[in-house]
Amino acid sequence: MFFNLVILVTLFLVDFAPSSSDDSFIYNGFQSGNLSMDGIANVTYNGLLLLTDSETQNQGHAFYQNPIHFKNSPNGTVFSFSTTFVFAIRSDYGDLRGHGLVFVIAPQRGLPGALANHYLGLFNSINNGDRSNHVVGVELDTIFSEDFGDINNNHVGIDINGLRSVAVHTAGYFDDIGLFHDLTLISGQPMQVWVDYDGSTKQINVTVAQLAAGKPVRPLMSLKYDLSPIIDQTMYVGFSSSTGSVPTHHYILGWSFKTNGKAQEFSQLPTLPRLGRKGTSRFVTIGLPLISLVSLVVATLVAVYYVRRRKYEELLEDWEREYRPQRFKYKDLYTATKGFREMELLGVGGFGKVYRGVMPITKLEIAVKRISHESRQGMKEFVSEIVSMGRIQHRNIVPLLGYCRRKGELLLIYEYMSNGSLDKYLYDQPRLTLDWNQRFRVIRGVASGLFFLHEECDHVVVHRDVKASNVLLDGELNGRLGDFGLARLYGHGTDPQSTRVVGTLGYLAPEHTRTGRATPRTDVFSFGAFLLEVACGKRPIQPRQDGDDLILVDRVYSCLNRGNILDAIDPNIGIDFVPGQVELVLKLGLFCSHSEPSFRPTMRQVLLFLDGVVALPELSTLGVSSATLTFDRHEGFDDFIKSYASSLDYAYSRSPSVTDSFLSGGR
Ligand SMILES: *[C@@H]1O[C@H](CO)[C@@H](O)[C@H](O)[C@H]1NC(C)=O
Ligand SMILES: *[C@@H]1O[C@H](CO)[C@@H](O)[C@H](O)[C@H]1NC(C)=O
Ligand SMILES: *[C@@H]1O[C@H](CO)[C@@H](O)[C@H](O)[C@H]1NC(C)=O
Ligand SMILES: *[C@@H]1O[C@H](CO)[C@@H](O)[C@H](O)[C@H]1NC(C)=O
Repeated sequence: MFFNLVILVTLFLVDFAPSSSDDSFIYNGFQSGNLSMDGIANVTYNGLLLLTDSETQNQGHAFYQNPIHFKNSPNGTVFSFSTTFVFAIRSDYGDLRGHGLVFVIAPQRGLPGALANHYLGLFNSINNGDRSNHVVGVELDTIFSEDFGDINNNHVGIDINGLRSVAVHTAGYFDDIGLFHDLTLISGQPMQVWVDYDGSTKQINVTVAQLAAGKPVRPLMSLKYDLSPIIDQTMYVGFSSSTGSVPTHHYILGWSFKTNGKAQEFSQLPTLPRLGRKGTSRFVTIGLPLISLVSLVVATLVAVYYVRRRKYEELLEDWEREYRPQRFKYKDLYTATKGFREMELLGVGGFGKVYRGVMPITKLEIAVKRISHESRQGMKEFVSEIVSMGRIQHRNIVPLLGYCRRKGELLLIYEYMSNGSLDKYLYDQPRLTLDWNQRFRVIRGVASGLFFLHEECDHVVVHRDVKASNVLLDGELNGRLGDFGLARLYGHGTDPQSTRVVGTLGYLAPEHTRTGRATPRTDVFSFGAFLLEVACGKRPIQPRQDGDDLILVDRVYSCLNRGNILDAIDPNIGIDFVPGQVELVLKLGLFCSHSEPSFRPTMRQVLLFLDGVVALPELSTLGVSSATLTFDRHEGFDDFIKSYASSLDYAYSRSPSVTDSFLSGGR
């Protein structure tokens, strides 16, 4: 008997000794809390962990208070562990979204110094990828970030010490017969994630499924990776999440964790708020009874109501129903811009004014372009384009958030760019100018944005109006291409179809004015004019009193011929520049201005030249000569005016200064 007991005790010690230090916990909702939170993370009254809410450009972290023992000794191997959690991501703007959330194992209860946006609250530009981070993450990433080699805007990734995932897969699951099914992370529906690590085979499995669907047998991702060098003896586990420009709710409903065993499944979880806005107005619930009592008030209220309704009236047609998420309420825009006050006016374009605004609830800063239009023709096509433009996400492209329509008026809503348009820093006695390094960064950025439009989108997107006044500078003076009003889509490989010439004189390629067709090559031509205007601080065509306009390309070329191309540069660029780099930009500008489209480089080549990966050959060997740079000022001009005039209804944006300078100054 005693002997048996000894055996039993010995067995117990042998089998269970390591498990005396096993850590395990489960949260069926977080009311009982005791999480260590920072940033904008919080727990809602009914126990949902809300990592980020309606604040933009922000982050939230929530960590389990106690350290987890992952090893027996500092140099030991990491135990097996398993965790599962249920999350939901909801954006306030339908398809537009924040950046996603990450399950994290980190040395501290927090991630000091981390940035929001595409850094997911995990890292910053300096420590991203650093081996001394000792951070393991499983990201549910909802934005395509070119910088980190993302595959799309809906993926799951395993991150070790950095945001360039070690393994990545489109979000979804494999069913019993091995077929893959997509899941949309931002669907707003609750989904469950399992992360299982096997300490002996060093395998990490990540599995995702719709809540209540059960754990799929085959994991979404299975990666062989020894975590022992990454994970220290004790670490903290938690979540990180970040938003960018769009307010997004990142919820965790429940979470369970266990080392050396299987994480427990949930018993009951808190419920998410109902999708969609709550009932429309208090007017109905409080106002109506009042009306029935006081007839005088009725009359007044009804009058007020109709005035208001008229004031905020919108135009909504049947075909627009599918674009609901991209629709902004006129009333909200009206409030945001304080009734389109002159004070909020950012600028005046050819077909309307641009106002700054702050959205009432979300505090999102926006720029609203008000375009008057009477024609309904082409509107459906145009709106569908706006919606696709809204899906384009690139760091050098101004995000288009949505639109609104009223009688005779179209409103486009963009993210607000705090430093305004680039042209203001270049000519017409700028109050502030940019030094060469700032200009080069803008050029590099615009090139990368344009390359993205031409070669990396689902469709080839031709911008059609690349010029300094359509490049906006964000808070960090990054150049971002804006104003897609003129861009039209056509599928890869299909013949570019266009009959209307819309663009800006001086930036329009000769074949574009002649044939009316815009192609990526015509954008390259405009980009060439843009390069020269940024380096020289002058417009492509500078009207002069004597009627003899200054043509920038001619000027730069004649400086080149005289053997000193640097004579052409803007004296305002300062003295801190590498002459070779300025020369490269000027020569590249000339190269892109080649009158023969097939001679011009592609944006891919432009990037290679700008990054110095490929040296720019001598211009003479590229067929650039004064003959091929002949500025096509007269040929096709009348046609241009005609087609331009007939396209007024369609030309949604265009700066009047250009029309004006061309009509008045041009003769
Ligand atoms: C919460 O965590 C802290 C720190 O680990 C601990 O001191 C405290 O007792 C915990 N409270 C509860 C209610 O678990
Ligand atoms: C969390 O929510 C509580 C109650 O709603 C509020 O008082 C508190 O300020 C919030 N904390 C943060 C960091 O938002
Ligand atoms: C643990 O590993 C480090 C670096 O490999 C080594 O310097 C140290 O001596 C090791 N410690 C033990 C206790 O093995
Ligand atoms: C990971 O997935 C593979 C393949 O389905 C499976 O063989 C292995 O047991 C899984 N490991 C864990 C820790 O779940």
